[in-house]
Amino acid sequence: MRMSVRDFQKMKHDGVPITMITAYDATSARLSEMAGIPAMLVGDSLGMVMQGHDVTIPVTLDDIIYHARIVTRVTSKAFVAGDLPFMTYTISPEQAMHSAARLMQEAGVSAVKLEGGESIAPTIKRLVEAGIPVMGHIGLQPQSVYKLGGMKAQGRDLESARQLLADAEAVEQAGAFAMVIEAVPAALAQMISQRLEIPTIGIGAGVHCDGQVQIFHDLLGLFEEFVPRHTRRYATLADTARGALSAYRTDVESRAFPTDEQSFSIREEVMTELRKAD
Ligand code: KIV
Repeated sequence: MRMSVRDFQKMKHDGVPITMITAYDATSARLSEMAGIPAMLVGDSLGMVMQGHDVTIPVTLDDIIYHARIVTRVTSKAFVAGDLPFMTYTISPEQAMHSAARLMQEAGVSAVKLEGGESIAPTIKRLVEAGIPVMGHIGLQPQSVYKLGGMKAQGRDLESARQLLADAEAVEQAGAFAMVIEAVPAALAQMISQRLEIPTIGIGAGVHCDGQVQIFHDLLGLFEEFVPRHTRRYATLADTARGALSAYRTDVESRAFPTDEQSFSIREEVMTELRKAD
């Protein structure tokens, strides 16, 4: 049985921190589920870690559907949410409904996540009324990177902190079942988490959020373009992978690989017959 939106609520109520991680393919999803991580996000961060872009903006709905379908296929317990990418939900609530319906029907996700505060609340309300579970995303909204002038922490002055509180309340009132809070001062994220009934899932928002989400490749040290301040690297797998790949190349070049162990045998009589034909 998969974790459900009701479990998010229960975990907040019971004070159990929610662990969430991004997953994009069979390997990341399987490993995360084996590690007991209850919630996964097929995030548009795949634009950076899977597709090699600098930002999330080029990611399409088809891209998210492609990756989310894999993640739902290979998991059975984890809650899987999928991101609605740039401009797939902001043109109109109808557009958002179409995009969310595709993500749920074609990829089998249990919820959609979308970025925005007060201004997107009416769209969230429409989606929720249509039976679509929505996870909000406030604070740093990577799809607005060009408007923000970079991936900067949000809510650090009085005016923007007040706006964030208003955004959080609007997203909750619109019916979201949870919300990501990205790159927001810890004390402000704590205040938001205390004021809301629904769980907050922080990324760069301090320890007092109701849960945490991290990007698979950051956590494992697989993404080396930059290390976001909010990340703790639990492994340095890129180093391990580079070492292994260069050992493979050395072994191929020196004919140390493959050995008999990685090869298939054939009966000597067969070879003798073959040679006779030469
Ligand atoms: O796209 C993503 O992976 C996200 C997380 C950073 C929350 O939105």
